Amino acid sequence: MVPMGNWAKRRLVKLNDKDRIRDESQVGSGFGKNVSHWLGKKYVYPTNVLHLSTECSNRGHSASFPISLPTWFIKLFTEEGDLVLDPFIGAGTTALACIKLNRHYVGIEMMEKYYDLALEAIERANNGNRTAGSLDKQMSPRLL
Ligand SMILES: C[S@@+](CC[C@H](N)C(=O)[O-])C[C@H]1O[C@@H](n2cnc3c(N)ncnc32)[C@H](O)[C@@H]1O
Repeated sequence: MVPMGNWAKRRLVKLNDKDRIRDESQVGSGFGKNVSHWLGKKYVYPTNVLHLSTECSNRGHSASFPISLPTWFIKLFTEEGDLVLDPFIGAGTTALACIKLNRHYVGIEMMEKYYDLALEAIERANNGNRTAGSLDKQMSPRLL
């Protein structure tokens, strides 16, 4: 169990109707949450929670991760030149981390608006080039 964290003090003060029922993910992934289940809790599962601030407001995607999150895992589990797969690429955060860390990447996204968003972010990260940099040669971004 880990401490709830200070975010709960503000978030759980005033719950709306949606917070009191299971709120299913809008993309039909099967994930969902009932915020009211956290009321009165001092500690929660899981035991391996990383605490990082979100970046939803300025990324054009409601569930965008901070780049520090994929960066942390990519550094831990891969080496330069390795290939990273993110089957839920969203705004492209994992691809951006890969570009910075000299990893190849494959991203999959079902919603066209996020697919476009990811491609734009990749293009910006590559100085206007839709081709991702790699160690040995230029690779095209693989967003399916
Ligand atoms: C939590 S968001 C990922 C956000 C991403 N890490 C970022 O930083 O922008 C999950 C994404 O997966 C996409 N998604 C959900 N189910 C999918 C599926 N079956 N195939 C492809 N993409 C899917 C959603 O449209 C959404 O953009």
